[in-house]
Amino acid sequence: MPTTAAPVSVPVGPNLSMFDPAFLGLDEFGAPVHIPLAYRRLLIAGEPDGGKSSLINTVMAHIALCRDARPVLFDGKLVELGPWEDSADEFVGPDMDHAITTLRRLQTVMNNRYAWLLAHGRRKVTAADGLKAIPSLFDEIALYATVLGTKAQQDEFITLFRDLVARGRAAAMPVIAATQRPSIDIIPKSLRDLFGYRAAFRCTSAGSSDIILGDNWSHAGFCATTIKPTMPGVCYLIAEGGVPALMKVAYLTDAHIATLADYAAWVRTGDRTNPHPAPAVLAA
Ligand SMILES: Nc1ncnc2c1ncn2[C@@H]1O[C@H](COP(=O)(O)OP(=O)(O)O)[C@@H](O)[C@H]1O
Ligand SMILES: [Mg+2]
Repeated sequence: MPTTAAPVSVPVGPNLSMFDPAFLGLDEFGAPVHIPLAYRRLLIAGEPDGGKSSLINTVMAHIALCRDARPVLFDGKLVELGPWEDSADEFVGPDMDHAITTLRRLQTVMNNRYAWLLAHGRRKVTAADGLKAIPSLFDEIALYATVLGTKAQQDEFITLFRDLVARGRAAAMPVIAATQRPSIDIIPKSLRDLFGYRAAFRCTSAGSSDIILGDNWSHAGFCATTIKPTMPGVCYLIAEGGVPALMKVAYLTDAHIATLADYAAWVRTGDRTNPHPAPAVLAA
């Protein structure tokens, strides 16, 4: 006997927007910290286990729940951004050819968006345009910039990455990038300064902290070496030429991420992630 198919249903979406400020965590006075994402670029750096991937996941959770975001994810480790693959337009793992092809595609979209803006006598994409923001998230730029592929591929990766960071803003194509090694060969000053928001997690030297936050902030008392190893998730966040401020990033457990990623995929595509998370994990 034929079975009756279950009615197809998709949950109501949360209706967040890339043009809404995203919640990152709390500052040292307990006040919420939000950053706008659509036109911003965020650099996340610091020692291993400082909390970089957690911050990138918190940002990705907002993006996945936005009705107007088509994220592109680069994660050579697979497991940090992997749970969000079903909410992404493209997911790049440890594959240099794929990374470069994807960056070239992003560059083409960016060129087209600028041509469209010029044709309409405009200088930036706004929420009213109905265009989706295309955020690119990189967990560990150093892997693509210095480890995978040939030297020529790494150079091409850095050139394309720099172009996306430099020109993506007004085209609503923000970049959120994390790197473990805050060294000058991976983040030259000229590239660092393109990132309006920079989060410095624990560093082992004042020099590394200054590479992230900006020259001489350590002399002024803002140094990520003061963040203890027992304080993961704490960082100095500097925003658009302001003064660095200590904050604690909101933490999503693996179970939270699995539940949110499943919900986001379901809202976006009508399909659940596979495997589904166990129910009620948010209460854990
Ligand atoms: N905001 C946070 N609050 C509490 N614990 C955190 C937070 N961020 C990170 N952690 C802890 O630190 C560990 C390492 O964080 P992770 O984001 O993977 O670091 P990184 O990417 O810098 O190496 C996590 O597994 C978690 O236990
Ligand atoms: Mg990490």
